[in-house]
Amino acid sequence: RYAELLEKNRRYLWNPFTQMKEYLDDEPVIVERGEGVKLIDVNGREYYDGNASVWLNVHGHNRRELNEAITEQLGKIAHSTLLGAANVPALELAERLVQLAPDGLNKVFYSDSGAEAVEIALKMAFLYWKHRGRPEKRLFLGMTNAYHGDTVGAVSVGGIDLFHASFDALLFETEKVPYPYTYRYPGSEEECVEACLEALRRKLEEKADVLAALIVEPIVQGAGGIITMPPGFLKAVSDLCKQYDVLWIADEVATGFGRTGRMFACEHEGVTPDLMALGKKITGGYLPVAATLATDEIYDAFYGDYAECKTFFHGHSYTGNPLGCAVALANLDLYEREDLITHVQEVAEHTARELARFYELPHVGDIRQRGLMIGIELVRDKETKEPYPWEEAIGVKVCRRARDLGLITRPLDNVITFLPPLAVRKEETTEMLSILYQAIAEVTGR
Ligand code: LLP
Repeated sequence: RYAELLEKNRRYLWNPFTQMKEYLDDEPVIVERGEGVKLIDVNGREYYDGNASVWLNVHGHNRRELNEAITEQLGKIAHSTLLGAANVPALELAERLVQLAPDGLNKVFYSDSGAEAVEIALKMAFLYWKHRGRPEKRLFLGMTNAYHGDTVGAVSVGGIDLFHASFDALLFETEKVPYPYTYRYPGSEEECVEACLEALRRKLEEKADVLAALIVEPIVQGAGGIITMPPGFLKAVSDLCKQYDVLWIADEVATGFGRTGRMFACEHEGVTPDLMALGKKITGGYLPVAATLATDEIYDAFYGDYAECKTFFHGHSYTGNPLGCAVALANLDLYEREDLITHVQEVAEHTARELARFYELPHVGDIRQRGLMIGIELVRDKETKEPYPWEEAIGVKVCRRARDLGLITRPLDNVITFLPPLAVRKEETTEMLSILYQAIAEVTGR
């Protein structure tokens, strides 16, 4: 059976973010089902889902309540359009999202992936200024090392050269400011923060007249290497944007819905962005639903007579899908019923204690954690922080070994990521981390 399916993969399937030449020769896992925090492949082998199926699974796989929510909705209707009409679950979910989101974000615009939620935020910001009679405010400001998805607009505001540089000629022009990557800053944390904020202040001073918005991954930069912001940084960024009359967009696709130990990462600093992109865990990791939340001020700028042509001309066929919205509602019910945010905080504390011993390993340079969003940066030399060269694929090797030992996760270059499903139990994280420890020790040396 496995051989047969692998042959189909070889013949027909092109996997995302995957070098097919290596993948096909590396006995890839072919998943058949899931149970709790485990994935089970077609050979019956079990693996811990150490990255929550790319950062989205919340309550574990095959949760009865979520399965039932989908079946129940399926008995009514699978899909109807939101273009010029509405459906029940999409309306109920919009209300819930507004209740949960930071104060001031009162309007929900749906889409189907995180990248789309970002595209929509960018287009809204762009048109907002146009409708306000300031069309020259059309430039976007992004952060170094940022990741906002893989569609062309999202790539334009991204800052990971490895993923993004090759598309250069396709992208629209953007400005970049440095993200506070304190581990790799030649100076103290305070100096790093000060330098980054000063660079932002200068950029705003110089370009506020032509800038539409800044986009930022609040509290933790994800695909850039799980890089955590020092406390106070996000608040300062938000204040600066307000001061210079530039909108700011929080990309909470990865951090939203409890990943960092608060419902939304913005809550850590008590800030409200002008636009917020959500995706991933919104459905508990079940179906593709994403959303862009906007303030009334932005919504109102589009509000007008048909003839004025201020309609937001954007919309995907499956937007506001009733099955997706129904499972999202059941997902949010479970957050409440199981007090999931408190659970995340408790498991995160436990995990932090377990992670401390990783520093004993000679090639663990830095461990970064907010809630259950964890990155372990491997270095060739701990003293000088010399990175492993890309060609050595050290992260790939560590994750490959972890897989043999029964845990699936992905590397971000030399950073090993650990983002388990949020409902993971303490004992399970202990087992998962002991696999990771062994894999790192075996591949990099003790
Ligand atoms: N924004 C942020 C902050 C994200 O982390 C992501 C996806 C997106 C937007 C895009 O959402 P999507 O379109 O995928 O629904 N490529 C890396 C992992 C990226 C993590 C996914 N983040 C890898 O190769 O492992």
